Amino acid sequence: MQKFVINGGTRLEGKIQVSGSKNAVLPIAVAAAILGDSVSVLHNVPNLTDVQTLSAVLEGLGASITRKNGSLYIEPINRMEYEAPYDLVRKMRASIYVLGPLVAKLGRAKVSFPGGCAIGPRPVDLHIKGLEHLGAQVEVKRGYIFAQTERLVGAKMNLIGQHGPSVGATANVMMAATLAEGTTVIKGAACEPHINDLAQFLNAMGADIEGIGTSTLTIRGVKQLRGTEHSVISDDIEAGTFIVAAAITNGDVSVEGIAKQQISAVSERLTQAGVQLDWHDTGVRVTTPQQLKSIEVTTAPFPGFPTDMQAQMMGLLSLASGTSTITENVHTDRFIHVAELNRIGADIRLEGRKAKVHGVSSLSGAPVMASDLRAGAVLVVAGMAAAGETVVSRIYHIDRGYEAIEKKLNSIGADIQRVNDSE
Ligand code: EPZ
Repeated sequence: MQKFVINGGTRLEGKIQVSGSKNAVLPIAVAAAILGDSVSVLHNVPNLTDVQTLSAVLEGLGASITRKNGSLYIEPINRMEYEAPYDLVRKMRASIYVLGPLVAKLGRAKVSFPGGCAIGPRPVDLHIKGLEHLGAQVEVKRGYIFAQTERLVGAKMNLIGQHGPSVGATANVMMAATLAEGTTVIKGAACEPHINDLAQFLNAMGADIEGIGTSTLTIRGVKQLRGTEHSVISDDIEAGTFIVAAAITNGDVSVEGIAKQQISAVSERLTQAGVQLDWHDTGVRVTTPQQLKSIEVTTAPFPGFPTDMQAQMMGLLSLASGTSTITENVHTDRFIHVAELNRIGADIRLEGRKAKVHGVSSLSGAPVMASDLRAGAVLVVAGMAAAGETVVSRIYHIDRGYEAIEKKLNSIGADIQRVNDSE
C-alpha cells in the first residue's frame, strides 16, 4: 500500500485544473458499454482507479474499452454474458449500475450484492423497486441479485427513499427505462449534475428523456441506442476540494474548469464562512482575506449542500472562529473522518447526525488513516494546513476519486510525497 507524507504550512498559489466527473463517467460508461449498439467515445475521462475497476467489470461482460489521451473508446458488449462477479463489484459499489442496463438489453442480470462501506450500509432496495416496477423479476440470494424479464414495460413510479432521492437508483432505472416498451415516469428522481450529464448522454444515444434537471423524469422507450461522442462534465466535488485546499492554506488559487452553478450550494456556504470567491468564465479565484467564521451546514440532495463535500467543509471549519454545526442527512454514518481530524488538532464533537466543530487556532501534523474517498481527501487538505508532518495511510481510497491529487497540489505549492507503505 502507499501513503502520503505531507509537510504542512505552505500557501497554495497558482492555477489548478479540475478533471472530469467520477460520478458522471461511471454510469455513462455503463450505458455506452451495455445499452449502445455501436462504439461510443468519452472525452475528459479522469484517470481513476474506479474507472479502471469499472472498465474491468464491463470487459468481463464482453465490452472492449481502450483509453487514449484522456478519452475512452467503448465497444459495447456483443455476447450474452450477464454476470458481474463479486471480486470486482466488492471493490466499487457503482458496479450496481450494470443491473438495469443488463436486464434491459439481455433480459437478465446476475450482479453481486454490493457491500456497505465506511459511510453506511448503502442499501439498493430502491434500485430493485424501480426495476420491479418496470416488470423485472428480482431475487436476492447467495450474495447475488438475480433479475430477469421477457421485456421491460414503462411504468409510473416514485423512487424517493427515507433519505431522499437516490442517485444510483435514478441512474439504474433511467438507463433501463430507455429500452422499455412505453413510457416511464420517475418521480422523486435525483437531479445531481452527474445524473443530468448521464441523461444528456442517453439522449445523444437516441433515448427520449424529458425533465432533465428536475425531480420528475419522463422516459419514452425506444428500440435501440447507438454509440455517440460525449465530453464528461467536470467534477464538482474535486473542484470543491481544491477550493477548500486553497482557502485552508490562506492561498491565492484559480480553480479552472468549473462553473458556479455546478457547486452553488458549496459556493454560498464558503462565502458565508468568509472565503472570497471571484468567479470568471473558466473557473474561480479563491482567496481568504479574513479570519474564517463559523457557519451551519446541512447536507441534502442537489441543489442542497452535497454530502460529498461534508468532510472537506469540516476540515476548513475546524480553523474558523466560533463553533460550526454540520448535519449529515444523506448517509447514515459519514463522520468517520472526525476522529482523524481530531488527531491533527481539530476539536470536533459528535451529537448523533450533527458534528459540533469548535474552531482552533492551528492544526498540527500527525499520522492518520484514510477510511473512504472524501475522508481521505480532507486529511490531505488538513495536513497541508497543519504545522509539521502529516502522514496519510491507505491512500488507495483517495486514488479512487482523485486523479494524481498530489501532483496537482504540488504544482501550486504543496509538499506531498507519495511513498510505499510497509503496512
Ligand atoms: C452516489 O452514491 C455517489 N456515488 C456518492 O458519492 C454520493 O455520496 C451519493 O450518491 C449521494 O450523493 C456515485 O455516484 C458513484 P444514493 P449512491 O443512492 O448512488 C439511501 C463519492 O464520494 N438509499 O443517492 O450510492 C442511501 O443509503 C461517493 O463520490 C436507500 O435507502 O447514493 C443514502 O442514505 C460516496 N436505498 C441515500 O439513499 C437505495 O436503494 C442516498 O444514496 C439507495 C440509496
